[in-house]
Amino acid sequence: MIMPTKEKTLDDLFHETLKDIYFTEKALVKALPRMAKAADCDELREAFENHLKETEDQVDRLEQVFKLIDKPARAKTCEAIKGLTDEAKEVMKDFKGTHALDAGLLSSAQAVEHYEISRYGTLKAWASELGLDKAVRLLDATLQEEKNADRLLTEIAESQVNRRAEAA
Ligand SMILES: [Fe+2]
Repeated sequence: MIMPTKEKTLDDLFHETLKDIYFTEKALVKALPRMAKAADCDELREAFENHLKETEDQVDRLEQVFKLIDKPARAKTCEAIKGLTDEAKEVMKDFKGTHALDAGLLSSAQAVEHYEISRYGTLKAWASELGLDKAVRLLDATLQEEKNADRLLTEIAESQVNRRAEAA
């Protein structure tokens, strides 16, 4: 006889996804200083440094959300962000010392931002569905920071980094 598996619900999905993005943010706390160090253009380096500070706050907000659902703050390996940060490392290695390095770094960072925007958008919608109003506010604060970071990166790419990479 097949034993019925335990019913899983939106609460479980929310909790699992929270662990995933917690892993992501902690990985970025490590990756962003490396990217800032590699960046040649001042504005790009500053953008990475500022986003590192925001990312530390984002880790903090996630810990508050874990508290709100009475779970320990625990990370679960996120293969997606591992892949994205590995690609960023590859770009740093392959384009080191070239004028195209910043454009490559910037595009890696934007891929990460888009991943995070997707995750936080989902988490915010689920928190709302689950009636977790405080969590909605915390997740939305981070979502707005990620969107701003993404917009700033687009500005830096279009105003200077892409042209420099092309002209070299
Ligand atoms: Fe983030």
